Amino acid sequence: MTFKPAAWPRKLRSQTWFGGTSKDNIYHRGWMKNQGFPPDLFDGRPVIGILNTWSELTPCNAHLRDLAERVKHGIYEAGGFPVEVPVFSASESAFRPTAMMFRNLAAMAVEEAMRGQPMDGCVLMVGCDKTTPSLLMAAASTDMPSIVVTGGPMLNGYYKNERVGSGTHLWKFSEAVKAGTMTKEEFVEAEASMSRSPGSCNTMGTASTMASMAEALGMALSGNAAIPAVDSRRRVMAQLTGRRIVQMVKDDLKPSDILKKEAFENAIRTNAAIGGSTNAVIHLLAIAGRVGIDLTLEDWDRCGRDVPTIVNLMPSGKYLMEEFFYAGGLPVVIKRLGEAGLLHKDALTVSGETAWDQVKAVQNYNEDVILPAEKALTQSGGVVVLKGNLAPKGAVLKPSAATPALMQHRGRAVVFEDIDDYKARINDEDLDIDETCVMVLKNCGPKGYPGMAEVGNMGLPPKILRKGITDMVRISDARMSGTAFGTVVLHTSPEAAAGGPLAVVQSGDMIELDVAGRRLHLEVSDAELAARLAKWAPSHIRAESGYAWLHQQHVEGADTGADLDFLKGCRGNPVGKDSH
Ligand code: FES
Repeated sequence: MTFKPAAWPRKLRSQTWFGGTSKDNIYHRGWMKNQGFPPDLFDGRPVIGILNTWSELTPCNAHLRDLAERVKHGIYEAGGFPVEVPVFSASESAFRPTAMMFRNLAAMAVEEAMRGQPMDGCVLMVGCDKTTPSLLMAAASTDMPSIVVTGGPMLNGYYKNERVGSGTHLWKFSEAVKAGTMTKEEFVEAEASMSRSPGSCNTMGTASTMASMAEALGMALSGNAAIPAVDSRRRVMAQLTGRRIVQMVKDDLKPSDILKKEAFENAIRTNAAIGGSTNAVIHLLAIAGRVGIDLTLEDWDRCGRDVPTIVNLMPSGKYLMEEFFYAGGLPVVIKRLGEAGLLHKDALTVSGETAWDQVKAVQNYNEDVILPAEKALTQSGGVVVLKGNLAPKGAVLKPSAATPALMQHRGRAVVFEDIDDYKARINDEDLDIDETCVMVLKNCGPKGYPGMAEVGNMGLPPKILRKGITDMVRISDARMSGTAFGTVVLHTSPEAAAGGPLAVVQSGDMIELDVAGRRLHLEVSDAELAARLAKWAPSHIRAESGYAWLHQQHVEGADTGADLDFLKGCRGNPVGKDSH
């Protein structure tokens, strides 16, 4: 892809604040000088906002203040002026009702922080799940030169000398406690073994997936995704990122130059190859919506269909991000896509190089971590998009995390009206359910929960777990943690709270899941379905004020990215009026 750098030097937007001798200029510049910045920093060089999602309540990003110092070094070295700016940090592990409800709020706040302040380019310092898409959405809507650097994953967890992965083993251990094969004391002991260093989840969960998506989209330097948080090379990556953004501003290399349809297709295929999180579906659709790229669920199914999952990481496989890094990391995977004819090789990246040029010479150092195609975890690793009378606008399933024998299944529905109903009844020994049933959970979508919680991989009833059974078909309008696994149909659209057919499924109905045929079918007649829908009334749109109200009124469906309707599109970065 050809990109023509802008002429340099030229006047940058920050100069409307800092250049000149007007009262306004002196006001903006003078107040900054209370921090001891020397005058030459205001001379027209690129001002780079280091947008930092550091927070002690976002533990996965708690080391980002330290890492930001390295970004600053790089910016100064390249002749820029770094300014570190704290931004909304949507923590996965702390926010209630779910961090996803705040992804769009964070994106809106960051977008305005970028546009309203004297910045010419930005470094997006992210890590925990929602922090990456929210800042990418903001950067896409401002179209200001931007580059991602993630905090990197935690070191491997170990418990009783076994590798334990963030999230993945939380679900496994919790089910083992329910099944009576692990004690509560052991569960608590395992807790500290899982998270033993700074960084984000060490599985191929949503954080690692989104770091990989940022790299595959071309929005991060090659090799960024897998470097462990505490590895000294993470600091080098931060410094190099700081150097690079200064040149990007000089060249005027913007998100819209990089985030083309080809970049999204590269990312979708990468997601299939790494066995990435289903959350990437929603986030990439939302990012695409911010740059006006027509990306659809059908693109996910079409692009991912023939891509084998070759990264042997939990939850689909057995290793963790640390081993992925030692094996060569994401550049090896992108090279493999290129060799298989599955990469738009000339897609532009933040480095100024093409997607192919920056990976063509890398090597795979461990073929048990990054597998040969014939040993792939699944030959068809892409997210499957299902349609049918139960999901007219689509639903998704991750085949690499599912049980092959359940991917063609017909069973009796056991319905939970919402998450409270599920929690109230799931442990009831008298619940009318067996392993052939299909568990259905309603009202957990973007509007219904609200925020679309990661509860789609709802735990099985204890009486079934005690039989040694660990998977059943589950269907909901919820999401699933990227660290989770199972034959789980997610993001069913339209969601129940918006009056989708999911809302009127009844216990005892028969449901057919046909993954190969891409079909999700409720076995009731069209007339019966229409009659049930005619009687349906909304019950979960309850917020009356505040952000929850804004979210419930304006959030769109999962099938288009669950963005707020009024935030879609690119609004650029015009310099606003001065009020002084
Ligand atoms: Fe933050 Fe997993 S909870 S990355």
